Amino acid sequence: MTDQTSKMYPPSAEMAAAAHADKATYDAMYAQSISDPEGFWAEHGKCVDWIKPFTKVKNTSFAPGNVDIKWFEDGTLNVTANCIDRHLETRGDQTAIIWEPDSVDDEAQHITYKQLHERTCKMANVLKELGVTKGDRVVLYLPMIPEAAYAMLACARIGAIHSIVFAGFSAEALGARVNACDAKVVITSDGAPRGGRVTNLKDSVNQALLNDFDEVKCLVVKRTGQQIAWRPEGDYWLHEMEEKVSADCPPEEMNAEDPLFILYTSGSTGQPKGVVHSTGGYIVYASMTHQYTFDYHDGDVFWCTADVGWVTGHSYIVYGPLANGATTVMFEGVPTYPDAGRFWAVCEKHKVNQFYTAPTAIRALMGQGTEFVEKYDLSDLKVLGTVGEPINPEAWNWYNDVVGKGTVPIVDTWWQTETGGHLLTPLPGATATKPGSATLPFFGVQPVILEPTSGEEIHDTAAEGVLCIKDSWPAQMRTVWGDHERFEKTYFSDYKGYYFTGDGCKRDDDGYYWITGRVDDVINVSGHRMGTAEVESALVAHAKVAEAAVVGYPHAIKGQGIYAYVTLMTGEEPTPELRKELEVWVRSEIGPIAKPDLIQWAPGLPKTRSGKIMRRILRKIAEDDFGALGDTSTLADPSVVDDLIENRMNKG
Ligand code: WT7
Repeated sequence: MTDQTSKMYPPSAEMAAAAHADKATYDAMYAQSISDPEGFWAEHGKCVDWIKPFTKVKNTSFAPGNVDIKWFEDGTLNVTANCIDRHLETRGDQTAIIWEPDSVDDEAQHITYKQLHERTCKMANVLKELGVTKGDRVVLYLPMIPEAAYAMLACARIGAIHSIVFAGFSAEALGARVNACDAKVVITSDGAPRGGRVTNLKDSVNQALLNDFDEVKCLVVKRTGQQIAWRPEGDYWLHEMEEKVSADCPPEEMNAEDPLFILYTSGSTGQPKGVVHSTGGYIVYASMTHQYTFDYHDGDVFWCTADVGWVTGHSYIVYGPLANGATTVMFEGVPTYPDAGRFWAVCEKHKVNQFYTAPTAIRALMGQGTEFVEKYDLSDLKVLGTVGEPINPEAWNWYNDVVGKGTVPIVDTWWQTETGGHLLTPLPGATATKPGSATLPFFGVQPVILEPTSGEEIHDTAAEGVLCIKDSWPAQMRTVWGDHERFEKTYFSDYKGYYFTGDGCKRDDDGYYWITGRVDDVINVSGHRMGTAEVESALVAHAKVAEAAVVGYPHAIKGQGIYAYVTLMTGEEPTPELRKELEVWVRSEIGPIAKPDLIQWAPGLPKTRSGKIMRRILRKIAEDDFGALGDTSTLADPSVVDDLIENRMNKG
């Protein structure tokens, strides 16, 4: 990581003058947002239309045993009225969604706000036909097709709570999530093309549902037209159902605090948490961060390359951009198909103004050479964004020099599934950037750095410790679905009175924040969050595995790779075939993103005398940092460490 000595990139005078906020505006707005949060959010809460305007702004407590977060609590609204209906009069014929399919041979679709309205209302009525009512849960397991956006909005239209499961997750993982939120309907497609390969999503749904939940209905979008297995009961084609329903579906009046969606994310235990986001605070914050962070203006074409299966897709493909009446690009494919120029080809083709992607994608493309970028006209780009993991300065510089030609500001946005929107980020016209730093807080956000063991707030400007947030912001998650105690325990118990982010952080002399990575047992693989405990549970569920310990290690493209130490049952042979078998096993238990990059056979794991696995040591070995193993004297059997070092897997 670089530090404050690195070069600064101030906004150009032109950018500062044209942007929603220059430095003076940011400073003034930020100061007000902290000194008078009520006044600030009362004003900015009006960026969305309310059915019944709120009179109460903020009612939040981080107090131990009494964590309670409410924003705009007596207001009512509907998110789709804000993302669709309110734009119909002024921009009904403007493109809301540009859909770019996986294959370059297929044509892009331009969906206007009018069409978005019709498709959303129809799908909402289909859901009603299937018996879905306000408060019911609907799981979405879909490729990146416009129907994914219609489905999210259709749920929001009628007050159903969507829970998207990334289509790269396995049937097993899907089933667990359907069960955890007790979903009434699963929406999927027949197939999902990605990078030229087609996966059969309906098969996974069948596996997931046929096992345990055959009463769950399944609504199927026809994407590929391939052969799929139809369950005898409970399966419905969307296109057939849509023929029977009206295109009129009035938006349900929702309370600001009604849940909008659940999104399962990994934590430090084996069970993913259902992060619950509310309606009012979330949409206000998604809209405002989209506007300011990307300096979005009317008429701009905005492209976030994430998948709607992650929070980034929720806030910055669908909800934020549509609330602002933007044209948002939705991309079905991958950055390297048909070749490493795809991102830039799409930027040129659709005249993209703001482009938002992950460091892992930048690093992967960087390795392919600059000619893939230089072939295309990228002169419409005004802002470049990154998200998901710390961006190394080499990748930042490549993004800046090769993609942005040194003239396009980069916004490195730090946030989490739990935060709903950006918490630390530069604003393009206001903030001088430093490669690798997420810079400064967004309006209303009070980051603090605590000394990790004492939990004392470090007040000096230059500081290093754990990152916490002192007070609530509107898009903060409200609870863990069905388990408020777990919510309190995970985020508010280690450091009382603060929201604990799970990240380590440095603050430099200029007050800039530098995220140093997770301090818990969560690893970040290609910007995707993975609980080491989840991968361990999957491994030990295999009949031949006695014990497993999983840690992250530095990986050139993915940021972190998954390193698994596996102890086999007595009598089992550690063969290359078994290694392959375990990889396949983890893929089927969780999904391809959880597949260990390296599996090391471990006759024993380093444990304390009380039997606790010393992960610190395993991390060091995986990092190839044997000199820094630290104190091993408390180990029950120090010799296991020598064996592990000797047989460490080669990185490669
Ligand atoms: C974790 C959250 C927020 C959407 C994508 C990931 C890491 C995220 C950055 C950044 C350094 C980052 C953190 C965070 N992270 N953005 N700009 N710089 N680290 O959401 O899956 O909830 O993961 O991603 O470690 O805690 P998520």
